[in-house]
Amino acid sequence: MNDIYEVIKVPNPVLKQTALAVEAVDQEIKDQITRMIATMYANSGVGLAANQVGILNRILVMDVTQNADGPGTPICMVNPEIIWASEERSLYQEGCLSLPQQFADIERPASVRISYLDENGAAQEMLTNADENLLLNHCVQHEMDHLDGALFSDYLSALKRNMMIKRVQKLEKNQHVL
Ligand code: NI
Repeated sequence: MNDIYEVIKVPNPVLKQTALAVEAVDQEIKDQITRMIATMYANSGVGLAANQVGILNRILVMDVTQNADGPGTPICMVNPEIIWASEERSLYQEGCLSLPQQFADIERPASVRISYLDENGAAQEMLTNADENLLLNHCVQHEMDHLDGALFSDYLSALKRNMMIKRVQKLEKNQHVL
């Protein structure tokens, strides 16, 4: 299980699908988590959701602590749910491994409380706060969107979104020529 997954790019329809709740954090799920974390690091991503590797389980991984020296402490969430969101909003320029080299300022709740299961199946909660950790606040909400089949580009106008998808398709095509 040391292999990494291939990261799926737009417009693959799996990115628009809703992932299903995980019934038990068993060995198969743990192996998926391990491989997702390896895939995230191999692609220099800050976060990765299961849809992005073609798996429709509600699993996301993140590491907002990594830096040029290498990996930090990865976080895994199984079946994450937002149980509270602030009225206040925060703005952050987001990117996505499924939309390579595309970025846009995205507005989200500035603070959310999330319940989830960790990689051992234990119930956990996280409270994000944009003032303390803007990247974490946006990353976790961005990855949770993936599990519901939503991309950051869905917050943009149809015109901007379609331009982004076309740019990604052009990039991918050029990569295949090389
Ligand atoms: Ni993403």
